[in-house]
Order: sequence, then structure tokens, then C-alpha cells
Amino acid sequence: MSEVTIVQLTDTHIRPAGEWVHGMVDTYANLTLALQQLRASQRRVDALVLSGDLTDTGSPEAYQRLRGAVEPVAAELGAQTVYVMGNHDERTAFATELLGADPADVDPDTTHDQVVDVAGLRVIALDSTTPRRHDGRLEQRQLDWLAEQLREPAPRGTLLVLHHPPIPSPVAATEYLRLERPELLGEVLAGSDVGLIVCGHNHLTGAAALAGIPVWIGPALAYRIDTIAPSGRHRGLIGYGYSRIDLLGSTLVATAIEATPAETLYDRPEQDVLDQLAALAAEAG
Ligand SMILES: [Fe+2]
Ligand SMILES: [Fe+2]
Repeated sequence: MSEVTIVQLTDTHIRPAGEWVHGMVDTYANLTLALQQLRASQRRVDALVLSGDLTDTGSPEAYQRLRGAVEPVAAELGAQTVYVMGNHDERTAFATELLGADPADVDPDTTHDQVVDVAGLRVIALDSTTPRRHDGRLEQRQLDWLAEQLREPAPRGTLLVLHHPPIPSPVAATEYLRLERPELLGEVLAGSDVGLIVCGHNHLTGAAALAGIPVWIGPALAYRIDTIAPSGRHRGLIGYGYSRIDLLGSTLVATAIEATPAETLYDRPEQDVLDQLAALAAEAG
């Protein structure tokens, strides 16, 4: 039984009404399908973490659409929402439309870093973006702030969220848009209570480690990159998903939720399956 469940929705790339990404993907439909799946599952969700590229072009209308879709479902689920900046986002619209900030108070050069308590699990979100750039970087000031936050451990440990994965990529374009100097982040995290680093940005599902801490790249809700495209080709594919992050005992576990419509192969009562497995185990001695 999961002690804490967080759903990671990443790279939603919402556009204003009537606009589709690459002219083919209704990203708003993908988002609402995922939210509908969460409602239909009737499972406990403690937080929805949106890990960047929330909108495709940073338009205020797109943030309003995103918020209009996410907030009612979060309220129904009793889930907190954590909005994190990505390279397609725009800081002023992000802060005013999602966080209710006064536009006059928003400095577009100030990063949106935050720490949120989710049922004893500390979620720290870093803004790895730089205005008008698509690669990632963390300022020394952010690393100092992070070190300060991590000085005291949290009751159930810490989940770190940032848009740009702090690991290399086998996909050339993704590698080009990587986070600069991830080892600086690794130095801050070494020996801390961070149990998992959760990212988006790459539009693929992948994992590695930084300073011995697992890094999860969650599948994007907009579309995915072909990770075995013919040599010399960079290819986007229609397909999407999101992730669940569960605290199981003291272990943070990341699990992809493939959301591209698929045929049901079987659909049985969970208890029947468990009973069958127990019977097989008993038989085997
Ligand atoms: Fe993205
Ligand atoms: Fe991105």
C-alpha cells in the first residue's frame, strides 16, 4: 500500500483553444484524458506534479486552459498541485495565471523554486530554465538554496523535481538541450535524503542516476520522441503517457502510465489474480 502517491504530468504543451501541436496533437485532449483516468481509477492521489513545458508557447490563454482542466480534478481528488517551469513556459504568465501572482510583482529573471510538503514527503521543485533558451541550467544561488532546504531531513524523505534531466541522453537533440553541469547538482544532493529525481523535457521514458540517486524521466503527455529512429533521423511519434511516483515503505518508486489508447487484453478482479498466484506458490511449496 502506497503511503504517498504523486502523479507526474509532464510536457503537457497546452496551446490556446483550436491550436494543435505540430498541427496534429490535441494536447488538451491528452491532458483531459489523463485526468479522467485518474478520476475513474478512484485511487488516492496526494499531489499532481506538472514538471514543465506546461504550455507550448507560454500564452496566458494556454495556462488558463491548463488550470481550468487540472484544478477541479485536483480538488475532487484532494490532491495538491505543484507547477514547475519548463523551457516552453514563460515566467510571467506562469506566475500570474497558475500561481495568482500580480504581474507587477513578477521578475522574469527570477526562478520559481519551491518546496511543498506532501503528507510528510518533501517535494522540492527547481526551475531549470533560462528565458529564451531551451537547454537547462541551475544558478549557484539555486544550488545554495537547495543545500539549505536539504540541511534537515524530511519525515518521509525528499522527491526532487526539475524539468531538465541531470543525465546524458543517447538522443542527439536531447543531449544538445541537456542540463548544464549536472555534477554541481550531484554535489549538493550527495548524502541528502533525496530518494528520487523526477524530470521531463526529453519526451521519452528513461532512467539513470546522479550521485547514486535514481533519476526518472517521465513520458510526456504531448507526444514522444522515437528513441530508436534510423541513424541520422530525429522523429516524433504520436503517443503519450504520464507517471505515478509512489512511496512504498521507504522507497520512492516511479512507474510509467502508458496512456496511448490500447485494447484491453484482460480485465480481472485483482483479488482473483492474487488468489491464483497464492495457489500457484502453495503448489510449488
Ligand atoms: Fe517538452
Ligand atoms: Fe522541455
